[in-house]
Amino acid sequence: MKSIASAPAKIILFGEHFVVHGTPAILAAIDKRVTVTSTFTENGTVKINSELGTLEVSISSLYKYKEVESEFRPFVYLTNKIIDSNQNVKGLEITINSDIPIGVGLGSSSACCVATTASISGLFKELSSEEILKMSIEAEKTIFPDSSGADCTVCTYGGMIEYPSIEKIDNTFDLNLLIANSMIPHNTKNSVEKVNKFKENDEERFSQLCDLETKLIGEVITVMKNNDTAAFGLKMSENQKYLEEIQVSNDTLRGMISSLKEISLGTKITGAGDGGCVIALVKDENMSKVPALLPKDKKCFSAKIDTKGVVWKIEK
Ligand code: PMV
Repeated sequence: MKSIASAPAKIILFGEHFVVHGTPAILAAIDKRVTVTSTFTENGTVKINSELGTLEVSISSLYKYKEVESEFRPFVYLTNKIIDSNQNVKGLEITINSDIPIGVGLGSSSACCVATTASISGLFKELSSEEILKMSIEAEKTIFPDSSGADCTVCTYGGMIEYPSIEKIDNTFDLNLLIANSMIPHNTKNSVEKVNKFKENDEERFSQLCDLETKLIGEVITVMKNNDTAAFGLKMSENQKYLEEIQVSNDTLRGMISSLKEISLGTKITGAGDGGCVIALVKDENMSKVPALLPKDKKCFSAKIDTKGVVWKIEK
């Protein structure tokens, strides 16, 4: 018996970083996925195969998940938690296949946590989306305790959502979203700590920026209801100014944003910044001009919004 689950990558359209401090954010799931397959074995171990390597842990030491390298920790945590409440398991093999680039702000780690929760638990009993989300946030917190939970939420439910209300946003206008990867890996934990320092040094300005972000998100909702793509783009660029101010941008990202300016309605970092990806709202007729505008070492692709979120099935 195989339990197969998949979950989508995500982008943050508005509100990254500020969301960690309680302001809302707007996120969307996109059409790149991670697929996790779990099967029972008789080996007395849990074996995890991913593109980062293979880890095999004996069932009796799963509870020491905190000692495992961070790349594998959430999966060992999840296995420990799920097996603990399902005695008599003799072994498991978990295989992770992903088309989501790692460490560049597209939610690879959250999508892995969501899909792994659904896949392993599917071997025992079907969980609700809410249960999958709760457990996957716990797993993600084993490597990033400050996580806002926004990424796992959109990977679970799919579509475009406002966080934390989890209200689905109907995007009636077609968003032509270009994602450009700086190819500089980032570390979300470090970027979040940097923003915490900014806040400590200037509580007043940080609080103003949180208020500005909250206001901006309210305006974005209205703009979307009015189908005003041009205004949506301007709001993205406005959000980028706030991200510049909290210092999660750098010369490479600024260079990419400025190169895309002439063909986009708005461009910003998506995710933690300090590397990773930028997103640009680009009109259809300008999509073909994008590769010529970016340095050759940057990768770009256009993203469609994924509406499905996490899905799972059992194969006998
Ligand atoms: O770059 P990512 O995918 O790790 O995005 C992190 C988003 C933050 O707002 C910076 C952190 C969070 O937990 O929301």
